[in-house]
Amino acid sequence: MKFDLLSTDINSKARAGEITTDHGKIETPIFMPVGTIATVKGVHQKELKEEINPDIILGNTYHLYLKPKTEILRKAGGIHKFMNWDRNILTDSGGYQVYSLSANRKIKEEGVKFKSHIDGSYHFFTPENVMEIQRTIGADIIMAFDECTPYPCDYRYAKKSMHMTHRWLDRCIKHFEKTPPLYGYEQSLFPIVQGSTYKDLRRQSAEYIANAGAVGNAIGGLSVGEPAEEMYAMTEVVTEILPEDKPRYLMGVGTPINILENIALGVDMFDCVMPTRNGRNGMLFTAHGTINIKNKKWEDDFSAIDDMAITWVDTEYSKAYLRHLFTVNEMLGRQIATIHNLGFYLWLVREARKHILAGDFRVWKDMMVKQMDKRL
Ligand code: GUN
Repeated sequence: MKFDLLSTDINSKARAGEITTDHGKIETPIFMPVGTIATVKGVHQKELKEEINPDIILGNTYHLYLKPKTEILRKAGGIHKFMNWDRNILTDSGGYQVYSLSANRKIKEEGVKFKSHIDGSYHFFTPENVMEIQRTIGADIIMAFDECTPYPCDYRYAKKSMHMTHRWLDRCIKHFEKTPPLYGYEQSLFPIVQGSTYKDLRRQSAEYIANAGAVGNAIGGLSVGEPAEEMYAMTEVVTEILPEDKPRYLMGVGTPINILENIALGVDMFDCVMPTRNGRNGMLFTAHGTINIKNKKWEDDFSAIDDMAITWVDTEYSKAYLRHLFTVNEMLGRQIATIHNLGFYLWLVREARKHILAGDFRVWKDMMVKQMDKRL
């Protein structure tokens, strides 16, 4: 994997860059649509590619391991072939889903025992088997196995957990280096900074992760319920320390405003379920604020969903029609909202990139943040 830093904004720490992997180029800043179980819910791969056009999407080790199961992905020749997606894929390690989804989990130094949210069966994840599972899934970028601490988290637990995440990282790296890729293309391992909302722990963790010398680095443990200002304070501390010549990925973030603010702090990669999950609940993101399309006020509003017309659905359908689809719980409504929201998120990061390259990112970002902070 190669990362070229093309430009850094003079009035912020925003960066424009380009990652190159065996599955092509990723222009940064990038938003990665979430495709947890080898599908971006409700969107055909053809439409995802042609209409939304992301250079990379995300999958989840926890889910894929449980279903369709690792063995099926191996037989398919890896996730790209299985889901017919020939561009980049990143898989999260399960170091978040195990804590947020499984009914029961027990964290030990060796690893995490957890109960499947699907059938209640018990499983054990360790840094070593998570590397093997991710080798078999076959994403281009794979994540270290970590513990994502909740918010709030007391200092003692946050410190203990961070040190365990660091020890797990060493085990991940060792095992990753021992296991060759299965499908003829390179895979890259990203370590994850933890440290909850404590600046000294974040500094310590960022230094540890920077020293690991990985090709890219991630920031975890944020967007777990803390106020946005605390999130930004942590990102700022960490991006001061993580190497400039490697991409930085902020996991699970966030709203369009969170994304722009974190780009300004030097983050290059993002993922979040918001555009897809909130879209399926009738929430639309636009450059002028958010819309709850289920609201009665849209009942007889026959104007286009979004006159910016970023994706074709925006002008093909009216707000009143989309509201109707949600009111009668038709799946087309959820599909339209998903395409609109992903189109908007990808537009936002592409615009950010253009403004970083043009040298006026800060002014544009401040204007957009003000403009988007509304409920329509
Ligand atoms: N997704 C969002 N936050 C996190 C995190 O802290 N760790 C992992 N592995 N995934 C995440």
